[in-house]
Amino acid sequence: MRASHSSRSHAGHRLREQQRLTTLLETGRALSSTLNLKSALHQVLETLARHHGIVRGLVVLTEDEGKHARVEAAVGVTRPLHHVRYAIGEGVIGRVIESGRAVIVPRGNREPALVFHATSRHEAEAQEFSFVCVPIDVELRVVGALGVALAFKVDRNYERSAAFIGVVAGMIGQAIKVHRLIAAQHRRLVNENAHLRQELRERYDFAGIIGSSGPMQHVYEQIGQVARTNTTVLLRGESGTGKELIAQAIHHNSPRARKAFVTVNCGALPDTLIESELFGYEKGAFTGADARKKGRFERAEGGTLFLDEIGDVHLATQVKLLRVLQEREFERLGGTDTLKVNVRLIAATNQDMERAIAQGLFREDLFYRLNVFPIFIPPLRERKPDVLLLADHFLERFAREHGKDIRRISTPAIDMLTAYHWPGNVRELQNVLERAVLVSDGQVIHGHHLPPTLQTAEASGTVMGRTLEDAVAAYERDLLQDALKSARGNRALAARLLRTSYRVVAYKVRKLGIDWKRFL
Ligand SMILES: Nc1ncnc2c1ncn2[C@@H]1O[C@H](COP(=O)(O)OP(=O)(O)OP(=O)(O)O)[C@@H](O)[C@H]1O
Ligand SMILES: [Mg+2]
Repeated sequence: MRASHSSRSHAGHRLREQQRLTTLLETGRALSSTLNLKSALHQVLETLARHHGIVRGLVVLTEDEGKHARVEAAVGVTRPLHHVRYAIGEGVIGRVIESGRAVIVPRGNREPALVFHATSRHEAEAQEFSFVCVPIDVELRVVGALGVALAFKVDRNYERSAAFIGVVAGMIGQAIKVHRLIAAQHRRLVNENAHLRQELRERYDFAGIIGSSGPMQHVYEQIGQVARTNTTVLLRGESGTGKELIAQAIHHNSPRARKAFVTVNCGALPDTLIESELFGYEKGAFTGADARKKGRFERAEGGTLFLDEIGDVHLATQVKLLRVLQEREFERLGGTDTLKVNVRLIAATNQDMERAIAQGLFREDLFYRLNVFPIFIPPLRERKPDVLLLADHFLERFAREHGKDIRRISTPAIDMLTAYHWPGNVRELQNVLERAVLVSDGQVIHGHHLPPTLQTAEASGTVMGRTLEDAVAAYERDLLQDALKSARGNRALAARLLRTSYRVVAYKVRKLGIDWKRFL
């Protein structure tokens, strides 16, 4: 009899041990699995409810630098408690937080402050409970308390219960510590980030340059690094990537901003004219030079000279440019006076300069003089996230310029814009949108408003002629997809929007392979 009793109690003891270990394991998991402290604490309380039969539990954390405490998580209560505030030192919980010592109330029903937490007065009176409350601390400072209500049992070992709840509270304390460290670090990073952004915005004005993709951020950083200096900048990138825009941004963000920004398009000037354009001439320097003329270098005095398409300059002029870059001086054509210049140079090219040098078309020494601070402007296909930003920007601009009320770009058209590889870069996108705005007769840019090169997915690789049938199918697909989108996948409603029958819509949707369910 005795033996069987003792073995039963032994089994009971082992079961309780197992439950405790399970609880600790689950507590650890809950606390480390999420950065959301509230939900982690809630899970911990639920674990206690599941394995330890607590009828109510709550975690209270201090706020206002420890002047008050507030319920952070609770189980077994139906009333929301998050607004309940405790004055430190008052009530059981307040006392625990103040003293940093556990408090055990064997008969919780007699403590009015504790009954308050019960689901209902009726429930609190019906079931006798004991309340165990332990402090939660972080690095020896009390930051809150964990309180649990257990069903009342005459033979309960309160010390053991309190010790166990204390272990759980210790784990919670660790989690709060980590949580606060992460929160502090996060706050610091957010502040720093906001600060840096603000600084960048205050110091540099990138007005008119659209794009927030990683590669463009890098370009902005480089502009920021070089704008305030007098360093010669070489802008490299495919045609239409925005080199001229960047050159202007560098000038406008430099100390020379109030002085002239002078552009020389070296590619557009005939060889015979380029030197007189750059350096100017004296009266009588050549036939037709009937008055002295200032060159662009002189006109850019104190400001910035932008040498666009520098790769197109022929060798004789390259020699003269090299001298200006080295000596910062030159003579007007037909003149003997040596003029000093204070000009910041920005050059741009879309050519393969290394190859031009290898072929003897460009002087290596001039290249190194120009290539002091190279900035590569990435092609548009390498900054896909910018395509839509730019498209919206141009849509708004051209709609305004052409007095049209166009609000948006249809989903299929957006797909086409993003799929295309944009060999002509931003300039091509700009042209495409201007054309679309001109041909659009409604409030929406549709796929068929875009040029044929964008019409098919294959167009992103090759340009191909299209049959009337293909073009009509593409147009139909556009209209159907748009109507289905407006109708949220309801084909009958889409049919009404298109003023046709349900049968026609269902048939075309099937024939064109449109997945109408994706609009549901
Ligand atoms: N990031 C951008 N945001 C807004 N507009 C842009 C952007 N990039 C380019 N553009 C516009 O695209 C057009 C082409 O840009 P830009 O003339 O600066 O190109 P580029 O690199 O000088 O080309 P090219 O080598 O052919 O001279 C311009 O009208 C410019 O305003
Ligand atoms: Mg250009």
